[in-house]
Amino acid sequence: MRILAIESSCDETAAAVIEDGRRILSSVVNTQIAEHRVYGGVVPEIASRRHIEHIDAVVAKALADAGETVQSVDALAVTAGPGLIGALLVGVNYAKGLALAAEKPLIPVHHIRGHIAANYLAEPALEPPFLCLVASGGHSLIVDVRDYTDFVVLGRSRDDAAGECFDKAARAMGFPYPGGVELDRQARSGDDTKYRFPQPHVEGHPLDMSFSGVKTAVVNLLHNAAQRGDPIDVPSLCASFEKTVCEALVTRVFSAARETGAKTVCVAGGVSANTRLRASLLSEGKRARCRIVMPPLSLTGDNAAMIGAQAYYEFLAGHLADDGLNAVATLPVERGTPADFAV
Ligand code: KG4
Ligand code: ZN
Repeated sequence: MRILAIESSCDETAAAVIEDGRRILSSVVNTQIAEHRVYGGVVPEIASRRHIEHIDAVVAKALADAGETVQSVDALAVTAGPGLIGALLVGVNYAKGLALAAEKPLIPVHHIRGHIAANYLAEPALEPPFLCLVASGGHSLIVDVRDYTDFVVLGRSRDDAAGECFDKAARAMGFPYPGGVELDRQARSGDDTKYRFPQPHVEGHPLDMSFSGVKTAVVNLLHNAAQRGDPIDVPSLCASFEKTVCEALVTRVFSAARETGAKTVCVAGGVSANTRLRASLLSEGKRARCRIVMPPLSLTGDNAAMIGAQAYYEFLAGHLADDGLNAVATLPVERGTPADFAV
C-alpha cells in the first residue's frame, strides 16, 4: 500500500510517499529555519504563509520522485496535530481538498506518533511493544508503545521540553536559533565536569522530568560571569549542560525499561540527533541488555516519511478522516483517532 503523506506542523513543509509503512519511496523537506532564525524562534504567521507558498511544489516533487501520481497512490495522510494551529491547518486543508478531488481515503496522523514511527523506517524488524524516549522541541516523554496505535505515557517533562531547554540555553550563549545543533557541536570539545548543575527530580514521580531549572542555572551562570568579568569556557559549559539533560532522559528511560521489562528502547524527535544522547543510549542499552533503535539523522527532525509510516498502521486500525477533520494544537499521544481531530 502506497501512502502520500504531508507534514506542516511547525517550520518544515514536507511530503513523502511510503510503502506499507516501512519503505521510503520519496521524502521531500522544505525547511524555513533560515527565515525564522532572524527572529530567534519560529514566527507562526510566517510559518503558515510559507507552507501555503511551498506545499504544492513539495507534494508534486514527492510524487514525481516516487514515480507516482495522486491517482496512483492508495491513500493520503496528513499531520493533524499537535503543532502550530495555523501551520497545521495549511496541511490539513490541502490534504482534505486533494483527497476529495482524487477520491482517496485520508488518514489523520498525530505528529508525535509520527516521530515514534520513524523507528519503523530505521529498523524493518521493529514491532511493538517497545519503549520510546520522545525528545523534541515541544515534548519530552517516556512512552510505552504497546501496539502501533496504543500508547501509554509513563513519564513527561513538567515544564520545558528537552529541545526547548537546549534552544534557550544555546540562545543565552549567543548561538543562532535553533541552537541545539550548535550546542551539540561545541560540547564535543568541552570538559563535561567543569560546570555542575543539579540533576532535577520531580518529588514522588521518578519518571517525570523538569528542565527549566537547568536552563535558568545556565542563564544565571552566564549573567554572573558577565557581571564579574569572568571568562566562560563555552565548549565545557555546553558539555556540562548537555550531560545533565542527557542523564535526566537516559536514566529515566532505562528505569522505565526495568519497571516494564521492556527489551527494546527507541528514541524519537529532534533532540534524538544529539551526539551524546545517541552514544549514551547505546552504552546504557548494552549494560541493560536492551536493543536500541534510533532513526537515522535524516529522520530525527520533522519530515513526512515518519507520518506516512504511522499512517499505514492508523489505516489498518480503520482510522480514516471524514469531512469533519480539523487540526488541533495540543493533543496527548494516547489520543489520535479521527474523532480526536474532528471539528
Ligand atoms: O522534533 P523537532 O524537529 O520539532 C518538534 O516537533 O519540536 O525538534 C526540534 C528540536 C529543537 O529544539 C532543536 O534544537 C533540537 O530538536 N535539536 C537538537 C539537535 N538537533 C535538533 N538538540 C540537541 N542536539 C542536537 N543535535
Ligand atoms: Zn516534531
